[in-house]
Amino acid sequence: MRGPALSGVFLLLAGLAAAQEIPFPERRSGRDQMAPETRAMQADDEANPGMLWVLDGADLFARAPTPGAPACAACHEAGALRGVAARYPAWDEAEARPVDLEGRINLCRTRHQGAAPLPREGRDLLALTAYIANQSRGLPIAPPADSRLDPARATGRALFERPLGQLRFSCAGCHDAHWGRHLGAAPIPQGHPNGYPLYRLEWQGLGSLQRRLRNCLAGMRAEPFAPDSPEATALALYLMQRAAPLPVETPAVRP
Ligand code: HEC
Ligand code: HEC
Repeated sequence: MRGPALSGVFLLLAGLAAAQEIPFPERRSGRDQMAPETRAMQADDEANPGMLWVLDGADLFARAPTPGAPACAACHEAGALRGVAARYPAWDEAEARPVDLEGRINLCRTRHQGAAPLPREGRDLLALTAYIANQSRGLPIAPPADSRLDPARATGRALFERPLGQLRFSCAGCHDAHWGRHLGAAPIPQGHPNGYPLYRLEWQGLGSLQRRLRNCLAGMRAEPFAPDSPEATALALYLMQRAAPLPVETPAVRP
């Protein structure tokens, strides 16, 4: 979001618009609003810089995190995790809470590899997440029909629709009510999570959904949620529900 381009009228609209979830047939990937060059970059694995992280992730997946510890590949066949990214966040029995894909990978690190969790937004966790999510590329987002997730999904929806921060914007005010319009030079997308982690030219690197959300929250002059917090996971759960059945596109490319 490019702050200085905000107009007063727009601010008012974003604050006041009644929230209405985008119906199924009108759901559009952020990819559809990208310039043709950006779309071409995303579509071509040779040109898509995000593929470098996917390749790194494949490497990490096959390697022991510490001498003697099992590699991810010791328990998961390469390719067998196809479909997983399309249904995360999901409920974790032992933790008795929803976890996102990054959180799930870190649970395997601590629970099954005896290794330390990888830092969020660090290259290794982004690479492993991109590697696993890329295996679901083309599959429709399919949130689990698990009623234990319902309270968190409801919290996520409330966060999405509620005015937040000093400017009293809501996510819905932009992404439900004004998608397709422009904020300065940037087209307002519907705000779907289906391409993450993705390569952003502005970041000169790969970034997670949570990093993207921090950008939007900063634009709203609102406090960002810590990536492992119940709020962050709740918002991700709701975003997946409102994006279904768009296809997973990891790694997407954005300006
Ligand atoms: C010693 C075996 C073992 C290792 C090593 C291991 N995992 Fe797992 N993984 C599991 C088990 C068992 C589960 C099921 C959940 C549980 O019991 O923790 C699981 C679940 C998962 C899931 C969720 C699958 C689903 O269908 O929801 C993902 C993703 C995953 N692991 C990724 C990884 C990654 C990435 C690594 C390496 C960083 C890794 N795992 C290392 C055993 C392992
Ligand atoms: C004032 C308008 C505005 C508000 C409020 C806003 N966003 Fe955004 N959002 C944008 C714009 C514009 C972009 C496109 C990014 C760019 O090009 O800078 C975006 C991008 C996104 C994306 C990435 C979509 C993609 O295709 O990669 C997601 C996800 C998202 N927003 C979610 C949210 C959530 C969740 C909230 C509330 C916490 C929120 N946004 C609040 C304007 C807004």
